[in-house]
Amino acid sequence: MRNETIIMPLLNSQARIRKFFDYASFIYDLINPHIYTKEMLETLKNEIEGSKILDVGVGTGYTTMEYENTLGVDLSEKMIHKAKAKGYKGSLLVGDVMQQSFEPETFDTIISAGSFYYFSSPLVVLKTFHSWLRDDGIFLCITPNKKILKPLVNVYSKPELEAMFESSNFKLEKIVELGRKSIKYAYLSKARKAKLDVG
Ligand SMILES: C[S@@+](CC[C@H](N)C(=O)[O-])C[C@H]1O[C@@H](n2cnc3c(N)ncnc32)[C@H](O)[C@@H]1O
Repeated sequence: MRNETIIMPLLNSQARIRKFFDYASFIYDLINPHIYTKEMLETLKNEIEGSKILDVGVGTGYTTMEYENTLGVDLSEKMIHKAKAKGYKGSLLVGDVMQQSFEPETFDTIISAGSFYYFSSPLVVLKTFHSWLRDDGIFLCITPNKKILKPLVNVYSKPELEAMFESSNFKLEKIVELGRKSIKYAYLSKARKAKLDVG
């Protein structure tokens, strides 16, 4: 696993993340589509299953704007405000997703497009998402794969992602590289909930 003592992301507290995205909200939609391209978005959307969706770190709603049965949660009130103003079709909630108490097996798909790498305890997060997913539900996760971003956020290698999913009872169905033709700078992981062994 990664060495916690070497990696020191700058956005390492919720207060900092919230503040950063409150400021970023004003220009976010101008910049985001150049990084998180339409092709990346379509690749992710093609993997969505079922109708009950949780969008973790929904931001301004780029990923799930038109899905009615979706709940988008975000720390930043200003990002959520933008999503609302653009006519987000699902429900929106301001807060830390890890502070929510959803019933077990609530969602068909949980999406994290650009938010997973802010969590300081990724295994706790994965175990929580596992419990919120229905049997066979899926977690779709876009994370950066370039080490240059390490001062800003947690960057996980493919083996690290594989190990994290395995130890939290997800079956990793695929990891695809996303980005532009010339440079692939993100992974899309699709992980399916494996049933926990009982007894
Ligand atoms: C890079 S943006 C991605 C927004 C959107 N998913 C997109 O792809 O355009 C990351 C978002 O995750 C949110 N976020 C980070 N940690 C969070 C947490 N613990 N709970 C809820 N939202 C969180 C941030 O506030 C920010 O809006």
